Amino acid sequence: VDLRPYNTLGISASADYFVEVHDLSELNEAIAFSSRRHLRRVFIGGGSNLVLRGDIQGMVIRMAMRGISCEADGDERVVTVAAGENWDELVKYSLAQGWYGLENLISIPGQAGAAPIQNIGAYGVELSSVLDSVTGWDINLNCLRKLSVADCQLGYRDSVFKGALRDVFIITAIDLRLSAKARVNLSYPALREAIQASSGEERSSGLARPSPELVAETVARVRADKLPDYRCEPNVGSFFKNPIISQTEAQELIALYPLLPHWPLADGRVKLAAAWLVDTAGWKGRRIGAVGIHPRQAIVLVNYDGAEGADVLDFAGAVQTDVLAQFNIALEIEPRVY
Ligand code: EPU
Repeated sequence: VDLRPYNTLGISASADYFVEVHDLSELNEAIAFSSRRHLRRVFIGGGSNLVLRGDIQGMVIRMAMRGISCEADGDERVVTVAAGENWDELVKYSLAQGWYGLENLISIPGQAGAAPIQNIGAYGVELSSVLDSVTGWDINLNCLRKLSVADCQLGYRDSVFKGALRDVFIITAIDLRLSAKARVNLSYPALREAIQASSGEERSSGLARPSPELVAETVARVRADKLPDYRCEPNVGSFFKNPIISQTEAQELIALYPLLPHWPLADGRVKLAAAWLVDTAGWKGRRIGAVGIHPRQAIVLVNYDGAEGADVLDFAGAVQTDVLAQFNIALEIEPRVY
């Protein structure tokens, strides 16, 4: 099977075996089959955070279980979402039902089951603020288990599913704790500005709170302006994580580069903009063969013309080398590499 339709970076790579699983029994069958034949297993969702280094010798298992259900708990709504549900459709569906809290996470490609793995986040909200629990199949224990949000060890683009439970705990569903009362998160300055610019009325009245619908609409518009659509320009969103460094290191760097965008974190460390580092190192809009950095968004790497996984990783390596040489910062690749 050619995996090209299953990854938004559009990389052609083959898998010896490929199966889509729609329920727990199909998942169990796939696990049993791969165990009997000692096949390596690669679990995928929407393939929007995935870099295929080369052909997969083993079995690719695509999570395709569907279903959304909801239970009321006072003003809160506990929404159970199967792993194979499309994330963006879930956000829009929730909004239509009057379940609030996901607006800022609209338009993120991929499936619900993958959301906790990298703790998806955008425009001031991370999944961690709405996630209640994660259900999955534990391959070692051979049973279904539910992890509390604390057990998931969510951090910036990080979780236990990237660490100790990688390839062991296969997420089948997530529980979100949403609100039946409209509430909005306007903590991201660029979002506030975009909302103000689109609505003169709100600005003049000062007190008016934008509706969750307006927040969702605005985030969708800002994203569409900023981030290339993978259907036209194959990409995996941010290719690098925003680096987090110590205060001392940050002060030294800011002395050299006063324009360096930086955000202090609660723990005293400082987050930098990977996009700015890549941009300033001269890589924005640069292209080598089939791979390049997008001309309008320095954090996004694009496969323009049938690149192979190795081309993508070589290109990323060249960017990392230059950023390290100029700023002494080691950029980390954000998507999963298989
Ligand atoms: N910048 C540049 N050059 C550019 C683009 C940006 O210098 O070409 C600088 C600007 O100074 C800007 C700063 O970088 O202030 C940050 O840019 P932006 O607000 O666009 O966000 P980001 O840090 O690049 C992160 C997430 C995105 C998320 C946005 C909005 C990561 C790795 N990326 O990007 O998530 O949508 O914030 O919250 O944390 C993703 O993970 O795939 C993703 C798209």
